[in-house]
Amino acid sequence: MSDPQPQRPGGPVMARPMVVAIDGPAGAGKSTVTRRLAARLGMLFLDTGAMYRAATVGLLRSGADRDDPAAVAAYVCARRIGFGADGQVQLDGERLGDELIRAPATVPEIWRVADNPACRAHLVAQQQAIVAGRDAVIEGRDATTVIAPDAQLKVYLDASPEERARRRLAEWPAGSPPPALAEVAAQIRARDEKDMARAVGALRLADDAVHLLSDGRSADGVVALLVAHAVQRNPFLLERRVADQLTVGRSRAKGYVRVAQGDVTGDGGMWQLGLTNPTPERMPGGVADLTRNRGGRQAGVLVQGRAVLVLAGRGDAPGEVAALPILPQTWYVIEPGAWHAVIQDHGTICAWAESSGISEERHPLDQAQQAQLRAFLEVYLPG
Ligand code: C5P
Repeated sequence: MSDPQPQRPGGPVMARPMVVAIDGPAGAGKSTVTRRLAARLGMLFLDTGAMYRAATVGLLRSGADRDDPAAVAAYVCARRIGFGADGQVQLDGERLGDELIRAPATVPEIWRVADNPACRAHLVAQQQAIVAGRDAVIEGRDATTVIAPDAQLKVYLDASPEERARRRLAEWPAGSPPPALAEVAAQIRARDEKDMARAVGALRLADDAVHLLSDGRSADGVVALLVAHAVQRNPFLLERRVADQLTVGRSRAKGYVRVAQGDVTGDGGMWQLGLTNPTPERMPGGVADLTRNRGGRQAGVLVQGRAVLVLAGRGDAPGEVAALPILPQTWYVIEPGAWHAVIQDHGTICAWAESSGISEERHPLDQAQQAQLRAFLEVYLPG
């Protein structure tokens, strides 16, 4: 579990940690997507399912009477379950590998822990202690409802039983004959019912969760949507990711036209950032262009009063497209040489920074970058 917390250029802003809670049924693609999301946002990743699995491995080894809920609770509630530096789950400090926690002998027994209210309370307390005071992505069945009911972003990641059955069959091990799609879909429905019928910590769609159906979307496409939702809740997340190329400050002018100016290049090349009505010949490219601006030029679009600033990253994420809503009274300065994607809709207003001696190179956005951009626009500018 890595937990980098880069410094914000203007100093710390968000005192409250950012928590993204993601629930959803088995096989909806949660674990791949949540792991990638946490890595993208540089946040701690908490796999709560691994904790239920680890408790079950220990229970089966312990010799405790697994048919006696009180004995199960007595065993599990005396355990300390956490994660090592390698991200692998640990039971009382002992690393348990995937070959144990995902073993065919373990999986059918997990319900003994997961359906036991005392065990759940004990695990939830440990989960809350792990994420306390930290930015985290929590994945589970009760992350949005019990573990982190005040998470800034709650997501219910769903997929139809048929889609989940298709995904499972696509990964079916060679050598064993795959069952029929309908049979796998029926098993998945039965498992959903079990997760949803649990007396405590049942899987359910929280009222304020984003319900995201992943049918027909790639894992990267889902991650892109989640990044967009997370950044929409907390724009400083993105600011941190591009902290090496972005300086954020306050505009003193209300209803500004020119919001900032200065010498960003350090060599006397003046720039200014403002809002204006662009003329078509002044505006670079469409959504499929990535424009490299050497002179310190920035663009965004304001559509129906909602502003989007689109950036493509450098550093550890070269060419990764990101976008954020432009905050009122806030200005953004992009270091020259950074990569910006520029999007323009008919009739929109553009904000940009200009300097003398702008030189510009055009590059087509690749498929992944275009998909990323579409995801941001889908979240920020629905319809
Ligand atoms: O997510 P994963 O498949 O690893 O979860 C393993 C088991 O633990 C599932 O059967 C699920 O019902 C249970 N679980 C739970 N509450 C959580 C996470 C997982 O009951 N927060």
